Amino acid sequence: MQQTATTLPQHYTDTPIYELEGKYLFSSLWIFVGMANELSKPNDYLRIEIGERDVIIQNCGGRLRAFLNSCSHRHSAIHDQACGNRKLICPYHGWSYDNEGIPTGIPGKEDFPQVYAHPERFALRQFELSTAGHFIFVRLVPGDADLKAFLGESYDFLVNASLGLDKKMDEYNESIGANWKVVIENALEGYHVPMVHRATLGAIKQFSTRRQDIVDHMPDASGHSYMVHKADEKWLRKWRRFETSLGRWPFKFDHYVHQLIFPNLTVTSFMGYSFHIQRFHPDAVDQTTVHSRIYSVHCEGQTEQGTSIMRTVYEEGRRFTREVFAEDRRACENVFHGLRHADWPAVLGKNMEQRIGHFQHNYLKSMGENT
Ligand code: FES
Ligand SMILES: [Fe+2]
Repeated sequence: MQQTATTLPQHYTDTPIYELEGKYLFSSLWIFVGMANELSKPNDYLRIEIGERDVIIQNCGGRLRAFLNSCSHRHSAIHDQACGNRKLICPYHGWSYDNEGIPTGIPGKEDFPQVYAHPERFALRQFELSTAGHFIFVRLVPGDADLKAFLGESYDFLVNASLGLDKKMDEYNESIGANWKVVIENALEGYHVPMVHRATLGAIKQFSTRRQDIVDHMPDASGHSYMVHKADEKWLRKWRRFETSLGRWPFKFDHYVHQLIFPNLTVTSFMGYSFHIQRFHPDAVDQTTVHSRIYSVHCEGQTEQGTSIMRTVYEEGRRFTREVFAEDRRACENVFHGLRHADWPAVLGKNMEQRIGHFQHNYLKSMGENT
């Protein structure tokens, strides 16, 4: 793996490059937009920006669809809230759309004979939408690979992670004053943990401290990668004493896993009893919003004692995640500050930072001739 970064500081700080990312990278890949279990009722919707396009994900009579949030009449936004439950009705003149996005209800329709004659020609612009378990992805510009092919090995992981998803234990949107790639790269290495997270991650006993128990995987050239960190044997022995009271959950393992779904989704879990789903959304060249959800998992046959243990585990996890996030935010903002003053490529550790090299390689590949 390359030990010099293939990206340059300008890839993180230049507005024209940022704009090209919206146009080429985010438009041509399958992008994670949200969770299907959060849109389970007809007319549930969410709005999301992908590559500067405002997109609606709507439950249309049980089927999820992705539409451009722009009315076919005179371009008003159809939904003006971030999420909710509402039919596809334009708030301006009241055009309403059916489950295919075709305008079927037009007040004063005799004034629009061309629409009345061929309503399908005036359908909302629709994009490709596909799911892996509960994970919804949208692609703005059609391409060759379907979602399953795009996700490769990660497809099964997302499907398995979806099997037991139960309650949303925490959700937040936090902004970080740094380019989105700085925030992703920070998530792809554990090298900063002893400095940045000494008081938090550094103090927990769950993980093995042996270097060989942390293994990076970069299965293909798609840009996705994952890291597996074994649990500490002593800690695991203690945990096993409670196992019968905790019950069974469907996707169980004895390690921590950190998955990057290229370009901007991470899914992490320790042992599969909860999942932390983070979407890194570029707001501007120098600002990123991290949308974070933590889900618990349904455990079959859990005793009262088990429920009380898990309650403590989830509460501590929630507090802990927020603390770790604040530490990472400060680190990312420091990196972004320094990047503005640098004109040379970064140096990458050949083991601990290899996922960053892989990310950068695929970032440049996805941008093609455009950087
Ligand atoms: S702009 Fe939507 S109904 Fe007029
Ligand atoms: Fe961190």
